[in-house]
Amino acid sequence: AQKFKVAVLPGDGIGPEVMTEALKVLDAVEKKFAVAFERTFANVGGIAIDKEGKALPQTTVDICKGADAILFGSVGGPKWESLPPDEQPERGALLPLRKIFGLYANLRPAIIFPALTGASSLKEEVISGGFNVLVVRELTGGIYFSQPKGIEGQGRERIGVDTMRYSIPEIERIAHVAFQAAQRRDKRLTSIDKANVLSTSVLWREIVESVAKQYPDVKLNHMYVDNAAMQLVRWPKQFDVLLCENMFGDILSDEAAMLTGSLGMLPSASLAEGSFGMYEPSGGSAPDIAGQGIANPIAQILSAAMMLRYSFALNEAADAVEAAVEKVLDQGLRTADIFQGKPGEKKINTREMGDAIVANL
Ligand code: NAD
Ligand code: IPM
Ligand code: MN
Repeated sequence: AQKFKVAVLPGDGIGPEVMTEALKVLDAVEKKFAVAFERTFANVGGIAIDKEGKALPQTTVDICKGADAILFGSVGGPKWESLPPDEQPERGALLPLRKIFGLYANLRPAIIFPALTGASSLKEEVISGGFNVLVVRELTGGIYFSQPKGIEGQGRERIGVDTMRYSIPEIERIAHVAFQAAQRRDKRLTSIDKANVLSTSVLWREIVESVAKQYPDVKLNHMYVDNAAMQLVRWPKQFDVLLCENMFGDILSDEAAMLTGSLGMLPSASLAEGSFGMYEPSGGSAPDIAGQGIANPIAQILSAAMMLRYSFALNEAADAVEAAVEKVLDQGLRTADIFQGKPGEKKINTREMGDAIVANL
């Protein structure tokens, strides 16, 4: 059997709960498709601080380096929020992982499943017939990483500093990812910026325009981020691919997720040059529901499906996992976040959702 090495980093909060279900799905894929996933577990985030003294231990980095892909849960929570910012799970582990592995291209597909039109916060007529938006988010640059950054000075004189920088190669490589994604889809690309205010956006728009010349079959338009936030809730079907810098993509992908019914539905792939990637739900550790066994594992399971597709080229297996998720939703099975109480719906917990998806594989 073909063998793939997966670094499994469940993390904090609901991370371990939803990861358990994704691993069950991988077990089922192994049986059905005669492949093997060799899994190595590692601590990351708050649990790594508690057990190994830091959010991203070197052992974890080494395990990831030895793997073909990383399956990541989520990190963070109230317990670690009073630590110095650079030692917290998010800035101490998640962002460094993205940087160390060069995961510059974050794909966040927000797809409304027909069975879930009622779970969206939008009116049924706005989303009927479904919609399918892909947020392509730049993940290793911009205001998240640029220097200088920090709090300078003392007492009332302190100032908080963040810097937003983008170089031409950084913009070019993410633009290529977005145009190529659009070519495989509806061939429409909306580049998001704030070119009326930000210099990074002026350069972004210029470079995206020049990359567009290599993709004459893709229809490109530009939109300011504030208008895009509004247009997403007004008429999401106008969008196919959204190309965003790091922070705009963070914000708009949460918004797009909710249109599909729940943040717990939205997977993501964070890709490097080549086939290496990290696969993580777009949402977080959900401290408000952690430990109750009620989180929606679908974002984690669909993230595993993206791993099968993008890092392992197991397209058939990825399709099968996605189809199994759709079947379960068609059967009316719902975790609490997508449960509407409509006739034919049944409320189930995290484990039951994982089992149902495995049963439909
Ligand atoms: P969050 O995404 O954890 O939660 C936002 C809301 O969505 C909550 O009400 C939560 O219950 C709900 N939600 C999220 N995932 C869900 C799921 N699978 N099933 C059901 N409901 C779900 O965002 P937050 O509350 O702003 O942040 C909580 C912590 O998570 C913070 O420490 C934050 O920094 C961290 N975080 C981590 C990641 C990551 O590891 N990739 C991403 C986002 C936030
Ligand atoms: C995400 C998260 C992270 C981000 C945080 C936890 C650093 O919100 O993956 O969307 O802002 O990128
Ligand atoms: Mn986010």
